[in-house]
Amino acid sequence: MCGIVGITSNKQVTSTIINSLKKLEYRGYDSAGIATLNNGFINEVKCEGRVDTLEKNLSQTNLKGTIGIGHVRWATHGIPSTINAHPHSSEKVSVVHNGIIENSTILKKYLIKKGHIFKSQTDTEVIVHLITEYLKKNNLKKSILKMLKKLHGSFALGIIFKDQPDLIIGARRGSPLAVGYGPNENYLGSDSYALKSMTNKISYLNDGEFCIIKKDQIEFFDSNGKKINKKILQLSSTENNYDKGEYKHYMAKEIEEQPLTIKNCVNEYIDKINSNINIFNFPWKSEEINSILLIGCGTAYHSCLMAKYWFEQITTLNVNVDIASEFRYRKNNFKKDTMYIFVSQSGETADTYAALDLCNKNNMKTCSVVNVVESSIARESKFVLPIHCGPEIGVASTKAFLGQMLVLYILCLKLSYMRKDINKKKYLEKINSLLSLSKLVKLSLETESKIQLVCSSFVNIKGCMFLGRGYSFPIALEGALKLKELAYVHAEGYPAGEMKHGPLALIEEGMPVVVLAPRDHYYKKTMSNMQEVIARGAKVLLITNKNKDEVHSENIWEKIEVENTSEDLLPFLITIPLQKLAYHSANKKGYDIDKPRNLAKSVTVE
Ligand code: AGP
Repeated sequence: MCGIVGITSNKQVTSTIINSLKKLEYRGYDSAGIATLNNGFINEVKCEGRVDTLEKNLSQTNLKGTIGIGHVRWATHGIPSTINAHPHSSEKVSVVHNGIIENSTILKKYLIKKGHIFKSQTDTEVIVHLITEYLKKNNLKKSILKMLKKLHGSFALGIIFKDQPDLIIGARRGSPLAVGYGPNENYLGSDSYALKSMTNKISYLNDGEFCIIKKDQIEFFDSNGKKINKKILQLSSTENNYDKGEYKHYMAKEIEEQPLTIKNCVNEYIDKINSNINIFNFPWKSEEINSILLIGCGTAYHSCLMAKYWFEQITTLNVNVDIASEFRYRKNNFKKDTMYIFVSQSGETADTYAALDLCNKNNMKTCSVVNVVESSIARESKFVLPIHCGPEIGVASTKAFLGQMLVLYILCLKLSYMRKDINKKKYLEKINSLLSLSKLVKLSLETESKIQLVCSSFVNIKGCMFLGRGYSFPIALEGALKLKELAYVHAEGYPAGEMKHGPLALIEEGMPVVVLAPRDHYYKKTMSNMQEVIARGAKVLLITNKNKDEVHSENIWEKIEVENTSEDLLPFLITIPLQKLAYHSANKKGYDIDKPRNLAKSVTVE
């Protein structure tokens, strides 16, 4: 989704801005642009498409300046085009914006009456004209305050001014924004990835705050313009050099990294010497929690759904799951004895953040499961459980999904033991199984060759289905989502037992159906449902686990077997072939695997 970079320096900034925009490409975008200030003039270069195109265009223009702002845009108001790309500028001011201005139509009418001429179809352009208008009668700070007060909606802004050769304004409401501190230069960025190649010293703006960045000083202000102090955070250097290595795509790398990320996460949470789970500083007593509500979007929602099955099976807690975009606008009966768990890889997803904010405002117990520990969701939760996966760049979430499930499972075991829902023997058995998970995930990666053979049947089809029951149902949803987002194939994840209530009508001769049937206590039921689709012509790819009992069923098109492990952990293993199925199907079609069309990694608009 949209990304912001700003730099003020005593050196030329164009190439540094471009490098930084490249770091933001993982977010997903459709146009890019840059504006600098040179000899008192604002100059812009913009394009539809990738930062590479912007770089080519720049090589023909010789854009100069020691101060500038850059942007990658994911279209909301107005089609993806050069004219709608950011920055948007008047003679006086240039603006980059993440988010949506909800009252832009009203503001535009007001500004047109005042004589302003609009060039683009974007909501952002009203910000440019508002500031230009206010600057006629007010000083810079007053103009910014007046403009911020007029805007409804969510935004992160970067602004430069014709008359200010060393000044960038950053402002946020709803969308994240960070500043970075460098030697003789300072930075603005929509997230820490944008800043990491330049500095490891950063501060985050909170909602409603704005800042004035000069090359040797950064000042912060609250929404009334009162000066405030900020902590400078030191970022770890481990994420600086994350690249594709020998892999063709980040996604391929991230799938293969899963044995390692699982191992790292297990090492973080499991005390092998004392056979215990380390969750330090948990802020609540176990008897204060009687129910759990898990909230997320997309893949993160699927890991929440998976956790519901575990929590119900292993604890006596009441468990519910919610999609963040639904939760945030429903009438919620907030309960003091509920722990609200927010799951998000990026920690910046606007809907999940808004749901968290709502719970915090109602003084609820909030806990987040995140990958990016400096993210807004992590910073604003009362308790944070990191998934320790390292950066995930591919838009399609893979290693973060396994990481989220793992942390939720570990939390479930810990709470269950604290509440005496399971005895010590069971607790130790389950911890012990976790210790071999990384090795088993590694063996699941070996399903690759079989997947490469079957994936051509998923390439040019009208649609397909992923079926599972119990623990396999959330994985069926995730498998279908992966195929949709990467191979652009219509895929439905469905509870296998629900097919006869309608979707069975979709099954026709030759339609590929992926049936997830590991040998858990749903196995026999799922096999019966599989027969129902086979009888209607479906081409079934069965995913199960190795077992001494043969699969007794005729007319299965193909079968893939993962390793054997406890029922609880089988969902991890059967996920791997589904990730590979989506990857190879998309690769066969030559699609942009790390940046699928229309999608973004960090979904910072609602
Ligand atoms: C997953 O493959 C998706 N790209 C998407 O569903 C994602 O999981 C969702 O947008 C939530 O993102 P988050 O985990 O960063 O909050």
